[in-house]
Amino acid sequence: IFNQKSNRFYKIVIIGVKELKHTEALLKAEKFQQKMEKIAQNDYWRPQYHIAAPANWINDPNGFCFYKGEYHLFYQYHPYSSQWGPMHWGHVASKDLADWEHRPIALAPTDEYDKDGCFSGSAIENDGKLYLLYTGHVDLDNSNGGNDRIETQCLAVSDDGKHFEKVENNPVIKALPENLNIRTEHFRDPKVWKHGDWYYTVVGVQTKEESGQVVVYKSQDLINWEFLNIMATSSVKENLGFMWECPNFAEVNGHEALILSPQGVKSEGNKFLNLHQSGYFLGKMDYNTGIFERENDFEMLDYGFDFYAPQIMQDEKNNRCLMIGWLAMWESEMPEQEEGWAGMMSIPRVLEVKNNKVYSLPIPELKKLRKNNVNYDVNLVQNCILEGINGDCYELNTVFDLTKANGFNLKLRVSENEETVISYDKNSKIFKLNRDKSGKGVTGEREAKVNLQDEKIYLQIFSDYSSLEIFINGGEYVISSRIYPMQEATGIVFEPIGEIKAKIDFSEM
Ligand code: FRU
Repeated sequence: IFNQKSNRFYKIVIIGVKELKHTEALLKAEKFQQKMEKIAQNDYWRPQYHIAAPANWINDPNGFCFYKGEYHLFYQYHPYSSQWGPMHWGHVASKDLADWEHRPIALAPTDEYDKDGCFSGSAIENDGKLYLLYTGHVDLDNSNGGNDRIETQCLAVSDDGKHFEKVENNPVIKALPENLNIRTEHFRDPKVWKHGDWYYTVVGVQTKEESGQVVVYKSQDLINWEFLNIMATSSVKENLGFMWECPNFAEVNGHEALILSPQGVKSEGNKFLNLHQSGYFLGKMDYNTGIFERENDFEMLDYGFDFYAPQIMQDEKNNRCLMIGWLAMWESEMPEQEEGWAGMMSIPRVLEVKNNKVYSLPIPELKKLRKNNVNYDVNLVQNCILEGINGDCYELNTVFDLTKANGFNLKLRVSENEETVISYDKNSKIFKLNRDKSGKGVTGEREAKVNLQDEKIYLQIFSDYSSLEIFINGGEYVISSRIYPMQEATGIVFEPIGEIKAKIDFSEM
């Protein structure tokens, strides 16, 4: 309309009551977040180059995609406190996966079908629009101490990648078939992909005996979905957990993988020590039957204390498969909660299948963040520190030739009372991360059995104030953990056991 008084045109947008409710809820959450941001941003443990929310609680990565020239990542978000609560979707975007910008909160739980949370899900582009497929979570009356719920799959759409509208037809997947061995209550975390003319989504569920499995649906328009099959399942006799959360179907350099986060896998020796795990099966998807044939044992994607619910995206621009995980673990102590925030994402990783194994490598784009590079070509014969090599926010690359050594300790974040210790023992081949003296938070060790390559071990270590991610031998193993040392813990100490020929390359970030 034209207003003669002001001599200006005004656009009137008519929106429905439901949409208004959603918009209002997003604005309210945004406002609250801004207030909390001032507190959270002052915390020493805030990451510099990892994704975290401006303030308050985050968990799983959601909706990882490329849309209109940018990478987008959404995340499970509770904007009202640093504890888990009714889930919203937070949002960040980046042109290069290295520098991320915060975007307005994308989803809030305002409808009868998602009133207790917009749970995890994924994103896909269709005809220039961005679709978010997520789980609507509703708690039933649990006054008897139960955990009864209704979970359905819901859709929201956007034509600018910023404002998302939930569709009229929600929930787009209302219920599971009842004639199969599927317990219908836990039904969440749809991950959508396109194959030929069809969209497919895998969703996490349980068998009636409570072992983990996933189902697959197909659709031509993302709105009408038909049940295809139980895509992969497990029995209670296998140690594969009681529920498979956050499943992903991934194509990785010509191989197919089912990536998932099983809850409740029991520890086997020093393996599977975290409360829940994330890992993969390699195999083959049959699109006619909807069955994914598992071809190997369940393998972990990360051997550290903190890595869960990873989500992949097929980066078609660069013909690679990327993955981001939540750098935390359910029920772990999270000391940053007292500082007004909780949780961060891993750095984006490139997946590659080699020797029947999924390797994870840091994305090369992070190289642009390197500053003040220092490097050494040295023989390490005794415990030492090296000039210029210390800090709390850095990338450290080392090649250690252990021909004349039995192993080493590499101590990071060292101060008088604190240290985080990486060690390798050539006899047992055990590589360890110990965080007994890493400051606040959980203590203990995590390990992986690592073979040397021509007597050498290759490490690529990312430190970002309260996190460490250690890539071993070109991504064959990764160990990721949160740590909470004091600000003065910036030392790096090399402790060879024997004589080590070392190449060391260090950059601040
Ligand atoms: C995994 C998970 C998902 C769920 C979400 C809720 O960490 O439990 O299964 O959708 O978190 O925040």
